Amino acid sequence: MSYETLLVEQRGAVTLITINRPQALNALNAQVLADMSAALAAYDADPTQHCAVVTGSEKAFAAGADIKQMADKEAADFFLEDFFSGWTSHVAATRKPWIAAVAGFALGGGCELAMMADFIIAADTAKFGQPEIKLGVAPGMGGSQRLTRAVGKAKAMEMCLTGRMMDATEAESAGLVARIVPASDLLDEALKTAATIAAMPPMAAMINKEMVNLAFESTLTQGLVAERRMFQILTATEDKKEGMAAFVEKRAGVWKGR
Ligand code: HXC
Repeated sequence: MSYETLLVEQRGAVTLITINRPQALNALNAQVLADMSAALAAYDADPTQHCAVVTGSEKAFAAGADIKQMADKEAADFFLEDFFSGWTSHVAATRKPWIAAVAGFALGGGCELAMMADFIIAADTAKFGQPEIKLGVAPGMGGSQRLTRAVGKAKAMEMCLTGRMMDATEAESAGLVARIVPASDLLDEALKTAATIAAMPPMAAMINKEMVNLAFESTLTQGLVAERRMFQILTATEDKKEGMAAFVEKRAGVWKGR
């Protein structure tokens, strides 16, 4: 399958998705949304694929929603199109794990896309920001919500109100990114991490992802009940029997994915 705005390739059990609009610093227009939704849905549906990496270029992961596409739209257009809703209903709804590998600018919608991933690995060149205020608007793809959950109110509020960028070091210490690597190693490190995840029992990976995400949606009591139920469901899988047998027999597990 080929896409107008993405390059997609499979590396073993890992799907690598590269945003490819260099002329616009990977700005996220409607075509990128359509392509990203389709590529992640195809990844989710492919039983041979168990982790994905979404990345951009050295200069920009994505410099935001496409300002040129939005410039002439009116409020009614944004409302009637339910503009940006596909990022929530499709991209962020991916059930299997995916990592954002971020180098350069991750601004506005670019920062928001990175935060939709299960975690972010950042190059030392990465710069994160929610500069929408400078355009007279505010984040529309989850920035005010996910950034606040990731880094807390003080930093999220400062970022949204000033539009300033956060470098990789600050982003790591604030909890926005899992790890920083030298820019030249970004793709290798992200693919290596993805391969580690892809080698895990697949249902366990999906349920671990769902459980961590639930922590942002539920009370502690609800989350703990759901966690126990999901743990109990996993104990019914063939991969649980295999995983525990493999440990006892001091060998690597061979997963059935069920
Ligand atoms: C459309 C963009 C773009 C964007 C860059 N480009 N960002 N096009 N939408 N978000 C285009 C530029 O117009 C230019 O095209 C080309 O990419 C290269 O960009 P330059 O500005 O020349 O590069 P540079 O000087 O290196 O500056 C990089 C930059 C700057 C600091 C990242 O491009 C920038 O500030 N971009 C906008 C960042 C931003 O505001 N993002 C949030 C968008 S709003 P041409 O053809 O002119 O050479 C958003 C959510 C909005 O994400 C929610 C609304 C409801």
